[in-house]
Amino acid sequence: SRRLSLLLRRPALSSAALALLQRFIYYWVNLRGPVKWALLGLLLLPRSEASCRTGTSHQGGYSHDAVVHALQKCGIRHIDTAKRYGCESLLQKAIKESGVKREDLWITTKLWHSDYGYENTTKACLESCERLGVDYLDLYLIHWPDAHIPGKSNREVRAETWRAMEELYEKGLCRSIGVSNFLISHLEQLKEDCVITPHVNQVEYHPFQRPQELVDYCRSRDIVFEGYCPLAKGEALTHPSIIQLAKKYGRTPAQICIRWSIQNGIVTIPKSTKAERIQENCKVFDFTIAEDDVEILNGMHDGRHVSWDPSLIV
Ligand SMILES: NC(=O)c1ccc[n+]([C@@H]2O[C@H](COP(=O)([O-])OP(=O)(O)OC[C@H]3O[C@@H](n4cnc5c(N)ncnc54)[C@H](OP(=O)(O)O)[C@@H]3O)[C@@H](O)[C@H]2O)c1
Repeated sequence: SRRLSLLLRRPALSSAALALLQRFIYYWVNLRGPVKWALLGLLLLPRSEASCRTGTSHQGGYSHDAVVHALQKCGIRHIDTAKRYGCESLLQKAIKESGVKREDLWITTKLWHSDYGYENTTKACLESCERLGVDYLDLYLIHWPDAHIPGKSNREVRAETWRAMEELYEKGLCRSIGVSNFLISHLEQLKEDCVITPHVNQVEYHPFQRPQELVDYCRSRDIVFEGYCPLAKGEALTHPSIIQLAKKYGRTPAQICIRWSIQNGIVTIPKSTKAERIQENCKVFDFTIAEDDVEILNGMHDGRHVSWDPSLIV
């Protein structure tokens, strides 16, 4: 992460390097083991607002054309989805139509809590693979630390679920395994209960929500920190300081937010259902936000969540 961070803080890349990055639009970061990780991903929305349990301000929905456009025209290769989003099968069609080869893609999906537990986890993984039309996942995440299983503690359920995740990794069905929305307390418990340290922790990360202690903790344990909601579901795009920085750099507020995540060494997965915005969100490798301005953005953290707040989950 430190090496990546330093690289991205260098002055704007040369046009040749930029062309290369624009073409591939993703930057590979080595994870532990033989897997690779795309820095800039495409996050897929739930199929409809109704499917979104958080009741937050998701707009739009799944757009087949946007996914195909992202894959064919923008060079996006990292796709983040989840069983919960209800679009794994639709995604299979979009990938097929795009013509992009499976081995060139990074596909993440997530285990929903209704499938937690040792037995269910393997079954759920196989079902996700089937819906996606793939025979392995690049990354499989436990979606949320709360287990909702009566008579069992969350810790107990997370531990047995993780044991199944470790087996999926060992069998090669999942090239990497991780968690989502886990705080230090959850990761500390899992540390005592697991053999394999999670490769990734996917957590909310945007200018209003910058959990630096958790980022530092993950880095100290070699866990890749992946930030979701980099635009704070659009809330960050109307903030006066971000608009001002966008004007200063001749960029859009979305590009400022995405670039800021990247310069902080965070893997980021902006989502849009609109082709032109996906294109815009990818154009973040040809400028650098100065240190002083990164500090302004860093200082905007006010602790608000636009998604879930896992802090009450034991
Ligand atoms: N791992 C987890 O537990 C977890 C939790 C919560 C949410 N998530 C995921 O986060 C995803 C939703 O992401 P998000 O909406 O919160 O992400 P976001 O990337 O912070 O914001 C996306 C919003 O910004 C808009 N947008 C995107 N690019 C834009 C641009 N260039 N200019 C103006 N507006 C732009 C999109 O609208 P348009 O589509 O109209 O462009 C959409 O309303 C969901 O799919 C959900 O799965 C994950």
